[in-house]
Amino acid sequence: MTQNGQNGKIKWTRKDLLGLRDLSAEEIELILDTAKSFSEVSQREVKKVPALRGKTVVNLFLEPSTRTRVSFELAEKRLSADTISMASAGSSMSKGESLWDTIANIEALKVDLIVMRHGSSGAPHRISTYTRCGLVNAGDGINEHPTQGLLDMFTLRELKGKIKGLKVVFVGDILHSRVARSNVWGLTKLGAEVVICGPKTLIPWGIEELGVKVVHDVKKAIDGADAVTLLRIQMERQNETLFPSIREYASTFGLKTELFKLAKPDAILMHPGPINRGVEIESALADSPQSYILKQVTNGIAVRMAVLYLLSGVIKNEK
Ligand code: CP
Repeated sequence: MTQNGQNGKIKWTRKDLLGLRDLSAEEIELILDTAKSFSEVSQREVKKVPALRGKTVVNLFLEPSTRTRVSFELAEKRLSADTISMASAGSSMSKGESLWDTIANIEALKVDLIVMRHGSSGAPHRISTYTRCGLVNAGDGINEHPTQGLLDMFTLRELKGKIKGLKVVFVGDILHSRVARSNVWGLTKLGAEVVICGPKTLIPWGIEELGVKVVHDVKKAIDGADAVTLLRIQMERQNETLFPSIREYASTFGLKTELFKLAKPDAILMHPGPINRGVEIESALADSPQSYILKQVTNGIAVRMAVLYLLSGVIKNEK
């Protein structure tokens, strides 16, 4: 979906960002490089550039969100776009209107881009086939959360200077984690060594086929890591008991300061949020100098600015 532009540089040609599964390593690097140039905008006194002036973006969040929704809204405003945010409560979906009709009405209002979070895996992929609007997946069920994966990679690259060859460990509920899936697709394409750790019931069957290593012993998993990303237990997506108790999970897989010492001395700790202190992460560790959880949140704005900017260029050409 990309082509080489003049001087051999890759040219962005997609109107949608649905997942990192679809992207080449070059496309991921283009987004990260573009985000680097946008990260300077947030340091300015007037945090605004005119890149999306005249464009309209609708944020359609059909599942709860704090970080992603606020981050997208700020990214859009910093690009000078006109923005509207909607949730299912308060919209006509609560009166029975289908997602298809909702999207058709948004399109009729001459919107350029839709940022969508949906509880069903694949919903944005389906929608993208029948809307002319550019579509950004802000998290679909347990499938992907591409901008979270990108901001995690951006943070890693910023702090470590590279991604290739890094040992990046994910501990927690991998089965229900769209963040883990996007990271696995992206990090393996950029040459990282990805290790997955958690209770056997919370590891997706066959995930090794994506080029990751599964280690159930958390000490062995963390040993020598450059980065450890913790994932919360997604109780809202579980309708059966997959582990004995939160207390047992916390004592076996919860990351504590002593355990984190098994990683490299300069290892970084990450978490997509929301964090559950005392469950997957010891509270003191979450607030420690090695924790870059809030840095990830800050970086999310530049990454989302980059994604919106690249997609908007393609939409302009399609009209
Ligand atoms: N990381 C993330 O997706 O957080 P929110 O659910 O708050 O958007």
